[in-house]
Amino acid sequence: MPKAVSLFTGCGGSDAGLHACGFDVVMANDVMSYARDVYLANLPETDYVVGDVKGIESFPKADLLAGCYPCQGFSVGGVRDPDRGINYLYREFDRALRQIRPKAFIVENVSGMRRANNQHLAVNQLTRFRMAGYKVSWAVLDAREYGVAQERSRMFFVGIRSDLGIEYEFPAPTHALPGNAASGLPGCPTIKDRIGGMPEWPEGEFDAQPFHWYYLSRDRWRGWDQVSRTIVANSRHTPLHPISPKLERLGPDEWRFVSDAPARRLSYREAAALQGFDADMTFPDTGGTRLRYRVVGNAVPPPLFQAVASAIPDIW
Ligand SMILES: C[S@@+](CC[C@H](N)C(=O)[O-])C[C@H]1O[C@@H](n2cnc3c(N)ncnc32)[C@H](O)[C@@H]1O
Repeated sequence: MPKAVSLFTGCGGSDAGLHACGFDVVMANDVMSYARDVYLANLPETDYVVGDVKGIESFPKADLLAGCYPCQGFSVGGVRDPDRGINYLYREFDRALRQIRPKAFIVENVSGMRRANNQHLAVNQLTRFRMAGYKVSWAVLDAREYGVAQERSRMFFVGIRSDLGIEYEFPAPTHALPGNAASGLPGCPTIKDRIGGMPEWPEGEFDAQPFHWYYLSRDRWRGWDQVSRTIVANSRHTPLHPISPKLERLGPDEWRFVSDAPARRLSYREAAALQGFDADMTFPDTGGTRLRYRVVGNAVPPPLFQAVASAIPDIW
């Protein structure tokens, strides 16, 4: 079994993908203790260290290093400020890379890292990883093309240690985008495929705060036969469940419900299923509803990470 070290691990979306392709995750790390609790409730075999990555002096040996450093500075949903310190946590990933010298690494981040004002950071990361002795490939992948019922595009860097003489190729899509039947691939799953059998009104499992003006500044609704809007970490901004009335546009950044019928956000459990986690995922009682949404929204869709990891040739 190849061994992996996981940094910025969260509740383990990336690691669920690694497990599915046969990796033994020997160490994981995150600052958030509830992320650790959820992770260990579902993937109990890993040594999960809670604390700032900067405090970790030595990392165990591993064949693969995986890391999805935070993205607030690059994200469309977050504060877009390329000067924020949080944007420089890739230096910690680079430190671990140089210490472990794994055969390969995978980094996931938001696609906003390509934007003009962030480009110097993306280029800096690429340069560092290449100087650390890796052949690095990068791509922006659309999660829908890998069987995830959600609009979510993410940037990946995959590096293979140069002495192995191998170049990584990103996996070809396995699913067709909506409306692209001509590709011959099966269509990507819909909201109904993922959460159709779940309770319609799971009291206590969804954020029931009022829909304030900001929430109604865009269309948060998708129907059963569509894919979900992006699952985010902030529970208040979670998309609507399809049993809610549709939204109609009133004007720029202004929408309203077409009827007074009851409306609700997706629950954290539905959000997890739409990310591609197992439907029976365990959420320990050590964290409340908002934290549950947060770890789920922060996660990489496990099927997407699995697709990227399993495309690494057998160098283990
Ligand atoms: C994009 S999320 C990672 C998601 C995770 N890979 C998954 O698939 O579930 C980034 C994570 O970095 C963590 N983080 C932020 N600053 C950190 C630091 N200084 N040290 C360790 N973890 C940190 C956050 O708590 C968050 O869980």
